Amino acid sequence: MAKPRILVVGSANVDFIMRAERVPSAGETLTSNGSYGFMPGGKGMNTALAASRMGGDTLMCARVGADSFGNRLIGFAKENGIDTRLMTIDKKRPTGLAAITVEADGTNRITVYKGANEALGDDDLEEAFMCYPDAVMLQFETNDYIVKKTIEIANEKGIPVIVDAGPARADYPLFDLGRLKVFSPNENETFTYTGIRPDSHNEYVHAVMKLAETVESDYYVLKLGGRGCYISDGKFSEILPAYNVEVVDTTAAGDAFTAAMTVEYIRTGDIIKACRYANAVGALTVSKRGSSASIPSDAEARRFMETHKIIF
Ligand code: ATP
Ligand code: RIB
Repeated sequence: MAKPRILVVGSANVDFIMRAERVPSAGETLTSNGSYGFMPGGKGMNTALAASRMGGDTLMCARVGADSFGNRLIGFAKENGIDTRLMTIDKKRPTGLAAITVEADGTNRITVYKGANEALGDDDLEEAFMCYPDAVMLQFETNDYIVKKTIEIANEKGIPVIVDAGPARADYPLFDLGRLKVFSPNENETFTYTGIRPDSHNEYVHAVMKLAETVESDYYVLKLGGRGCYISDGKFSEILPAYNVEVVDTTAAGDAFTAAMTVEYIRTGDIIKACRYANAVGALTVSKRGSSASIPSDAEARRFMETHKIIF
């Protein structure tokens, strides 16, 4: 079977990651005995990398700055088998940067400077659809126009669109997105868009009902961290509990989950199977340090599924 061809239109950032016992309060300076490092990231880049590691034939449409970070990101994508023909250098804005603090329990806080990501425009999209993708993946870390335009073109061509709904903004024009195959927010994003904290089954149902009032999608997949995920098509729903792992760093788990779900959905046409596989990929991602560095391969994910039991 041919590899699923995935087009990612999204962000590429350099992640500055520092580990610390906790984050400082306002006005406080903390010293940290943890580690720090720079690594490739960005919701788009993590998604493209994960799609490629899961066995997808992946194209990344992105903009980086004319700086050493930008060159490094393009080189990284190439080394990881991502088609970089659609990654361009923006002369006016620097490469996107994410400042990430990871606390002792593995949770993160992220501030993103979008930089060149925000400049993605029609020129970038012109060639993107020439690759005849099986699916298009988007996140909200570029600009609203490019997200809407990409969906419009994909809808015209009948190509399924998968939206990873972060980072969330309460005033994001979700009603204007167009037709999606999957809309997938995490817990915080679900709260921002609906005002409902998805903490119980009842709230998952209500949150999806609220989302469905504004977003037209075949499936809604809520990513629920250590509780796994909730899948609904508006009529039928299912909760897939998370696999039991030790959490080291949750950064990029959502990106890896959505990419894995997309590749497996294109391979099988079965959203539940796809989310079960994505749960394994998410679990493996949280059990390693880093953003892009923590994303496993398809082989690792399948081995993991064979040897682990699901927690309830
Ligand atoms: P990110 O930190 O990248 O923003 P996210 O908040 O978008 O991640 P999460 O809901 O935290 O996404 O995680 C995505 C998926 O990863 C979950 O749906 C689940 O499958 C897996 N996952 C996350 N946390 C855990 C955990 N503690 N144990 C097992 N699996 C987990
Ligand atoms: O989802 C994780 C990503 O969010 C990081 O790689 C960072 O760049 C931000 O975009």
